[in-house]
Amino acid sequence: MKDVLLYEGKAKKVYQAKGKQNQLVLAYKNDATAFNGEKKSSFNGKGRLNNEISSKIFNLLHEAGVETHFIDRLSETEQLVYQTEIIPLEVVVRNVAAGSITKRLGIEEKTPFHPPLVELFFKDDELGDPLINDQHALFLSSITQDELQEIKDKALEINQHLTRIFQCIGITLVDFKLEFGRLTDGSIVLADEVSPDTCRLWDINTSEKLDKDVFRQGIGDLIQVYEEILDRLEEKV
Ligand code: TMP
Repeated sequence: MKDVLLYEGKAKKVYQAKGKQNQLVLAYKNDATAFNGEKKSSFNGKGRLNNEISSKIFNLLHEAGVETHFIDRLSETEQLVYQTEIIPLEVVVRNVAAGSITKRLGIEEKTPFHPPLVELFFKDDELGDPLINDQHALFLSSITQDELQEIKDKALEINQHLTRIFQCIGITLVDFKLEFGRLTDGSIVLADEVSPDTCRLWDINTSEKLDKDVFRQGIGDLIQVYEEILDRLEEKV
């Protein structure tokens, strides 16, 4: 008997884990979308690569003491996670200017941010995930002011760990998006995924883009660059 499908997103399907209360199976899909679903494609192997990369990174974050929803990788494309109520915020941390901030604020690509910037977006596809401020976040979600601060602090702490992990494999962590979820005991943990779909990753020496921007901008082979990230993680970390 198959697990019960609870939800299908753009990059993953979410199933109730059979016989396990409060646990879910995330199945990574081969689909890639950009610009809020306007650009779509599918890449053989993408689901496996993101599942493996994200699982590796969650394990490394656990070693660093960060609490996440991740339990175990189950198969090439599936992982077991604790069920959370996803907080509808996309928490973006930026170390270097790229992507939407360059257009929105006219900041030149590659401008470094010291300290890193934290931005909040409202997770709502119909609205195109708009940038919001703290008051909007409190109004639009069930979190308290203290929890919002906790989420931002955690995002910056995770940035320190991820920056170090990627630096070890010759990559600059330019920016990334995190999602947080509430466990059944009420605590808030890192959820969703950390992968080249959700991070901007540039080679430290050549600045070559090794993330979903190769698909967004049509400038490279997505599978080749995701393989490169997994190979480097497997070799060095
Ligand atoms: P942005 O520059 O387009 O705002 O993206 C910032 C970071 O967030 C970048 O690493 C890509 C990631 N991201 C997602 O994971 N999902 C999204 O829907 C978007 C727009 C960005």
